[in-house]
Order: sequence, then C-alpha cells, then structure tokens
Amino acid sequence: MKLFIKKPIEQLLAASRETEKTLKRTLGLGSLIALGIGAIIGAGIFVRTAAAAGEHAGPAVTISFIIAASGCALAGLCYAEFASMIPIAGSAYTYSYATMGELIAWIIGWDLVLEYALGAATVSIGWAQYFNEFLHTFFNVHIPYSLSHSPFEVANLHSGMYAGEFGTRGMIDLPAIFILLMLTMLLIRGMSESAIVNNVIVIVKVAIVLMIISLGWQFINPALHTPYMIPADEGSVTTSTGVVNYADTFNHGWLGVLRGASVVFFAFIGFDAVSTAAQEAKNPQKDMPKGILISLVICTALYILFSHVLTGLTSYKDFLVQGKEASVTYAIKHAMPGYNWLANLVTVAILAGFSSVILVMLMGQTRVFYTMSTDGLIPPVFSKLHPKHRTPYKSQWLFFVFVSLFAGFIPDSVVGEMVSIGTLFAFVLVCIGIFILRKTDPNLERPFRTPAYQVVCILGAAICACMIASEGLENWLRLLVWLLIGFIIYFGYSVKRSHVRHGKVEGVDDPPNPNFME
Ligand code: ALA
Repeated sequence: MKLFIKKPIEQLLAASRETEKTLKRTLGLGSLIALGIGAIIGAGIFVRTAAAAGEHAGPAVTISFIIAASGCALAGLCYAEFASMIPIAGSAYTYSYATMGELIAWIIGWDLVLEYALGAATVSIGWAQYFNEFLHTFFNVHIPYSLSHSPFEVANLHSGMYAGEFGTRGMIDLPAIFILLMLTMLLIRGMSESAIVNNVIVIVKVAIVLMIISLGWQFINPALHTPYMIPADEGSVTTSTGVVNYADTFNHGWLGVLRGASVVFFAFIGFDAVSTAAQEAKNPQKDMPKGILISLVICTALYILFSHVLTGLTSYKDFLVQGKEASVTYAIKHAMPGYNWLANLVTVAILAGFSSVILVMLMGQTRVFYTMSTDGLIPPVFSKLHPKHRTPYKSQWLFFVFVSLFAGFIPDSVVGEMVSIGTLFAFVLVCIGIFILRKTDPNLERPFRTPAYQVVCILGAAICACMIASEGLENWLRLLVWLLIGFIIYFGYSVKRSHVRHGKVEGVDDPPNPNFME
C-alpha cells in the first residue's frame, strides 16, 4: 500500500491557476502582518492567559509565553520553508501532501480539525463569557448560569452576576452556539472579511492591549508578583470545574510554567494564516516568512507585557474563582478604580475581536476539508458548493453542528487544551518533516530556507514535544483517540477513494467563491 504517495506539484498548480485568475497580488508586508495579528490575538490572551496563571504558572506566565513563542517561532521557520516550496495558497495539509506523502498529509489534515474546529469552539466559549458580561454591564440582565455553561461546570463561589445562582449546574452554553450560528450563516453567504474590516479589528485589538498595558502599569501591586512562581505548598482552590491542587507536579514551579506554556500556546495559534495568503502577496518568497515572524514577535512582546500587568492587578488565584470568566474585565474593575469605561470598552472590543477569530477558524476548517474532499480522502459532501454563493454550505452546516457540540457542552479548559495539543503535534510533524526532506530531497527548490535547519528543526520539535509532555495523560489519550478515529477513516475510506492513488485529477472547472478561498 503506497502510504507515502505524493500529490504531483503540477496538479496543485493547475488547481490553483483557477483561483489565481480571481486573486490579485495586492498584499504587502504590512498587510500580511496585519493578517497574522488579526488571526492571532483572541481568546488566548483575553481568556486562557488568566487560566494558565491561575492553574499552573502564577505571575511566571510571562515565562510561559516566552517558551510557547520559541516553539512557535522555530516551527514557524519550518512552516515558512514548507510553504515557500509550493507557491500556492494552502495549509500544512496541502504542503505535506506534495512533499511528505498522503499518510502524513492525512494525519496533519485530521489534526488541523483540532486546531480550527475546536479552536473556534474555544473562542466561542470565551465570547459567551464576555457576552454575558456585556449584557450585565449595559442592560443589567444576563443569561442564566445553566444556559450559558457546560454540564461540567457548577456555579460555586462566583460573585457578581452569578451570585444568586450558587450551586446551579450548567446545561448548555447557548450564547456560544448563537455566535457560531451567526458566523456560519455569514460564511455561507460568502461574506468573508474584507481587508479593511480586518485592519480595523486589528487596530482595535492592539489598541486595547496597549491601553491595558499602559494604563494598568501604575496599578501593578508588586506584592502580587512575589513569589514569581507558584510554590508547591500553596494549597488548593475549588473552582467551578473541580479542585486545583498546587502540589500537583505541573501546578507549581518550573513544570507549572511549562504546562502554562502549553495553555498559552493557544494565544499564538493562527500565525500560519499568513502563509495561506501566499497567492495574494506581492512578494511571497520574501514577505511570507517575514510576515510570520514579525507578527509573532509583536504578539509575544504584547503578551508578555499584558500578562505582567494582569497578574499584577489581581492575585492569580482570583482567576480560578471570581475572575474565572471575562477575566480581563474583572481585573480592571477590581484593581483599577475610575477605569470602568476601559472595562466596558474591552468587553465590547472583545466581542468584535473574537468574532473575527472564530470566522477565520471556521473558514480555515471548511477550506482544509474542501481540499481533502476534492482529493477524495473524505466524502464529496465537504466540497459541495452552494449553487448561488459558491461556498461549501453543507460542510459549513456540518461543522456548525460539530463545533457546537463542543462549544455547548464542554468547558473551555478541556477544549482549549485539545486545540493546543493537536496543533503542537502538527508542529512537531512539520519540524521533523522539514529535517527529513532536507536529507531525502536536498535538491528541491526552496525559495526560503530555514537557517541552521538542524538546530531549528530539532529544537522546534523538542520544545513543542515538551509542551505536549506537560499536558498530561488525559490530554495525550484524547489526542490518541482522535488520531485512532482518523486512522479508521483513512484505512476504511480514504485509501480506496484517494484520487492521487487512482490517477484522477481533481475537477478544477468548478471553482469555489474566491472569497472563501481568499
Ligand atoms: N490565537 C487565537 C486566540 O487566541 C486562536 O484566540
């Protein structure tokens, strides 16, 4: 069985020529960086950072960001080499099919579901928290706890809007499903974000982060930063999802910081969006790697300063109880007297900012499955286009149901960690893949070459693997089960229908809406 059969690059180029006709090369380096930042800043910084500080790293979550950023930067360099070898828009799935063969491409494509679909679920859960905060602040109402939380959560010591619902168990997270529904409908109509809307949202997100850093700096309480790492004898805290015991190996000290890195890693996901715009870039070979790395550097700097302020405003333990939800708004209201306007601004900006991240992720998901479906690896329903809008509407609806099952019924901590472990695993494969390709195909044309590739590939894979290692047995098992399901589908369905195996060329005479493929 030819498990490592490769998709001919000529076939990829033929398929891309159709979309090429409708796409103009308009994006300069600045737009690429804006695209990257637009996809990167989201629930990672505004929701998961507080969770990482509260559960694992304490104020040293700043170091967690440095570890996560190093893994991303090294994997990002490998990713850029990968992307530059095939000068078309695509994802890690597309590139690996042409370079590393079908089985690896399948694993990566299947794994990307964790990144994109569950990523959308995680951000929509964060959106729901800030939406309730919004309703509470501006209209003094909120959606009841049971209808805005998963069945695995119980209102325990919450103050504020949930104070009267002590002991209530969640049933379903309706606002999270609501935002997914709205954005799914938008995507089906083929309304992708325009560059202008994206740029406005990027400016708003960066401005909010900068305002919190600059205005919050004077309110930092140095006592909250001492000790910098969580000590092993810090005791335990009861949260809405269970008990966090700081004596546990990955909940204090350096190992806590490492585990924190795997949580905040979520905040960097999305930088690969830059490479999907290769066909629209004026100078892809030079600007793509630069775009990826510069957006990473900017976000890392913002994240480190932001998390330094956040943990200086309120004790990290608060982020497990009173400040567990809409944590940034909580911290501002709690520790910055006179700045309620900032808290309100943040709430509104976050609702818009998160929506754009969810949109990109839902679109990325259907785009990867669209390609896998035209390759014959998954059923044709995923590439069925809407007769009028030319978007993969059936796929979009199927993913709405799939993502809603997670967003509505699973806590964000569980979904968020699955996103991290899935994406980290894909990064490890990309790092190792680039290393192997340099040995096996040294003569392939590589417009961008990863510098000092031995060091970059090995260190990148090692850092990402360490973060995976810190995620613990439960998360490893979840990843394993997901991969096993993938293998069953691959060997039961895909190998029999793979177009590349059977010499079929995918239909290029039925191109999708260019907005969808942007
Ligand atoms: N990096 C994106 C976020 O933080 C996924 O929401």
